[in-house]
Amino acid sequence: YRNLRVALLGGGSVGAQVARLLLDNSEELANRVGASLELVGILVRDVDAERTVDLPRDLFTTDAETLILGADVVIELMGGIEPARSHILMAINSGADVVTANKALLATHGPELFAAADQVGAQLTYEAAVAGAIPIVRPLGESLGGDQVNRILGIVNGTTNYILDRMDTEGDTLEEALRLATELGYAEADPTADIGGYDAAQKAAILASLAFHTTVPLASVYREGITAVTPAQIESARKAGYVVKLLAICERLVDAETGQEGVSARVYPAMVPRSHPLASVHGANNAVFVEAEAAGSLMFYGAGAGGVETASAVLGDLVSLARRHIAGGPGVPASKHADLPILDIGRIVTR
Ligand code: NAP
Ligand code: HSE
Repeated sequence: YRNLRVALLGGGSVGAQVARLLLDNSEELANRVGASLELVGILVRDVDAERTVDLPRDLFTTDAETLILGADVVIELMGGIEPARSHILMAINSGADVVTANKALLATHGPELFAAADQVGAQLTYEAAVAGAIPIVRPLGESLGGDQVNRILGIVNGTTNYILDRMDTEGDTLEEALRLATELGYAEADPTADIGGYDAAQKAAILASLAFHTTVPLASVYREGITAVTPAQIESARKAGYVVKLLAICERLVDAETGQEGVSARVYPAMVPRSHPLASVHGANNAVFVEAEAAGSLMFYGAGAGGVETASAVLGDLVSLARRHIAGGPGVPASKHADLPILDIGRIVTR
């Protein structure tokens, strides 16, 4: 086997789960990739902090430069703009591939980071940046890359969906539900990003850019959060047969005055009829509807937040990058498949 050195920047809700899965499943992942994925270190602010996931102490470090410069693949799960931006640029310029879940950074500095990666032929992937565990970035950017996407309608923030759902079904106040969402690891380090609609707006900018093959700046995304939504409004929506959901809407539109085609991205709390599939997206789940010219309507649904769920998307990116790395360039090589028997249908037992 070859050995790929993997550096993790951040060991919080998502980072700790990525580390755990990498360590627990190292043999299986090595078989799939054709190389061992060696976790060489985890960058944190405080190496002595109590952690909920039990990980070897000697992996934790505060020395970003040594960690990054000694890695083949860098996974950024710190969040925020700086130092995440500088660390990613350092990784790219040192020849490493990068995985990130940082939508705040991508929505504001994406073009700079992608240009830097292009310049040196590095990969920068970000499946976990939108809708947690749900595969949506790659389907939009690759699988639907030959189609024309006309509209995306989505619940893309798990925290606000969790809060609105608790307010609707349990009668919680926004503050009570936010406290629970934070305890469960759904909320951002600064939860204003969630309840203010900023996180959903960042995701809308990323989705719209991917779907419409253009750069949709974050500043152009109309945004309203859920802080003004009251229990009384939720109650009257219920009585009228609606549920309040924070929606991200990205559309191809035509300017009524000029007739010019353009795109729009917006985020706001909307009244969704209870009969609509989006109304039954509960808890921290997300759902993304995509309407495309040839493919028609597609729906992507699943866990939109949470450490271990998001770690799944991060590891998917890592495996994909590692395979390309091993192949020596872009293109997906045949992986070494697990040597599993085909079971007799009459004798299948569940684990
Ligand atoms: P988190 O729990 O706040 O963890 C952040 C980690 O980064 C911590 O380990 C922290 O160190 C470390 N860190 C932060 N700033 C640092 C600095 N300046 N120097 C060194 N280490 C630093 O965050 P998270 O929830 O895991 O989220 C990580 C990223 O994933 C964010 O971009 C977030 O938007 C994205 N994301 C999160 C979710 C989710 O459900 N949580 C889902 C999708 C995407 P300490 O531990 O020492 O404080
Ligand atoms: N805070 C984010 C959310 C994490 O609640 O959706 C997932 O991006």
